[in-house]
Amino acid sequence: MCGIVGAVAQRDVCPILLEGLKRLEYRGYDSAGIAVLNGNHKLERVRVLGKVQDLVTSLSAQPLHGGTGIAHTRWATHGKPSIENAHPHVYKEKIALVHNGIIENHEPLRQQQKQHGFDFNTETDTEVIVNQIEYYLRTGQDLLQAVFNTVDDLEGAYSLGIICTDEPGRIIAARSGSALVIGVGIGEYFIASDIFALLPVTQQFIILEEGDIADIQRDQLRIYDKNHQAVIRQIIISQQVAEAVDKAGYRHFMLKEIFTQPLAIAETLEGRLADGLVVESAFGMRAATIFDQAEAIDIVACGTSYHAGLVAKYWLEATAGIPCQVEIASEFRYRRKVVSRNSLFVTISQSGETTDTLAALELAKTLNYISTLAICNVPESSLTRASELVFLTHAGPEIGVASTKAFTTQLTALFMLMILLARRRGLTSEQEKGLVHHLETLPGKINLALDLNQQLSELAERFADKHHALYLGRGSMLPVAMEGALKLKEISYIHAEAYAAGELKHGPLALVDNDMPVIAVAPNNQLLEKLKSNLQEVRARGGKLYVFTDTDVNIQASEDISMIRMAPVPDCIAPIVFTVPLQLFAYHIAVLKGADIDQPRNLAKAVTVE
Ligand code: M6R
Repeated sequence: MCGIVGAVAQRDVCPILLEGLKRLEYRGYDSAGIAVLNGNHKLERVRVLGKVQDLVTSLSAQPLHGGTGIAHTRWATHGKPSIENAHPHVYKEKIALVHNGIIENHEPLRQQQKQHGFDFNTETDTEVIVNQIEYYLRTGQDLLQAVFNTVDDLEGAYSLGIICTDEPGRIIAARSGSALVIGVGIGEYFIASDIFALLPVTQQFIILEEGDIADIQRDQLRIYDKNHQAVIRQIIISQQVAEAVDKAGYRHFMLKEIFTQPLAIAETLEGRLADGLVVESAFGMRAATIFDQAEAIDIVACGTSYHAGLVAKYWLEATAGIPCQVEIASEFRYRRKVVSRNSLFVTISQSGETTDTLAALELAKTLNYISTLAICNVPESSLTRASELVFLTHAGPEIGVASTKAFTTQLTALFMLMILLARRRGLTSEQEKGLVHHLETLPGKINLALDLNQQLSELAERFADKHHALYLGRGSMLPVAMEGALKLKEISYIHAEAYAAGELKHGPLALVDNDMPVIAVAPNNQLLEKLKSNLQEVRARGGKLYVFTDTDVNIQASEDISMIRMAPVPDCIAPIVFTVPLQLFAYHIAVLKGADIDQPRNLAKAVTVE
């Protein structure tokens, strides 16, 4: 899972490639590299172990210049993060190639190529592609024909950018299973893994389709489909702006994004409410017809977005009375699914580029669903383009790998979906106005939760030396506890698990002792008394409790109980508001541990491989 960018222009393309890489770093950041054809049509390459900024530093000492170039930021799959395994990969000083995806048949290709006398310098699956291109070039084919033949030999997923000293001023790009766009400039063309990477240089894009191969020269673009037949692909004008993304004075993007949540949720609601009711067309022009037919909802997503789906299940079944199933995309895509009559398939994704979620959507389209709805933060992403109905969360770019505002805005969107489906099952306008009113109070309630920042930062000090933590919740607070545990583990590297509080006695209670902190999400709802009993079970075993609750809940702080008290929140929106202090808690613990908050080890923002 990596980011690729390329350019062919009359000007020096290196600054364009580096800016593109910075914008793609959310896809991986363990190594980075660039290759250009310089003024003498010689191939020059610089690679670093580390982040794009390390590449920039390295290039300031050893500048490259050229009108044709490709660059890459890597998230290691095959082969450890190292300079040798960093892209671009080359054949001698002749061909350079960047790749996003996984070549599944790299082993047999490697064996064949060894028999043909090729050497290998890396542990990657990618090196076989560049060798295979050379293999066909040796038969007298030109670069385009050699790439045609090479991709026919590949199994797996790839987006590719290829340059060659024999044909300077030309990039061949290919897409199969990994997103790739072409940016159209004036007398210049670009390629990248997403539109965002190229917004500083163009607003015009061609989204390559599955199997497409593009032959790109400064003044000419030809695209071929998977059968290698010439095709015309439409140019779209992106509505996105190349806004500079900075930390706005915050120490980390994650902290900024946590504090931006009142505004982000206001943006999610903006234009989606009228006269105190939800505007149906916010979900797409055919939303009304499709929602009229829907008798069941299947939600599929990954990670944090999956947790949002789990909260929605409680809402949809309790308030809209509609059956809802929620599943992890990587499981859904490989099992035989029985689809209930008139089911709507819903995906949730911040990036809209998560491979498992995209694959689940493609599978769903072959099943008996009435339609597909994507709840997504990134306009023009693969997910939104592939779905019939789309709700854009309008959270703004989320840079921190740990999702924060993406989650709370997804929940806001799902709450609106719940209202629209409940409307068809007897929710009156008055009741709807009541629910919408709660939505409108969200920015204010979250601001109150953010006021706990200092207290949480102090509390974090008691936690930073811990190695494990248990999170507990009941009802719709269980997925909130799961999300809290995910935040802690991904940024602080403390092992954290979430359990339904009632499940504790069926096994996990055995883990509880003096060294096992237990975090309980305990708003004042109808399950509170049940949860309190579960907390007593923890206390009786010497566990240390951190209870996130309301100011009006009657639990006393003591030596073994730390209380984090929120202003009272209506039950229906409590999952959104209670998420915020858990985010802050995880953040402060990770800061104390000196972790890389915005780019935690081993992770990437968008997971574009299986
Ligand atoms: O872009 P997506 O929402 O589809 O990403 C899915 C997960 O990779 C993502 O939610 C991940 O779990 C979070 N970044 C963790 O904070």
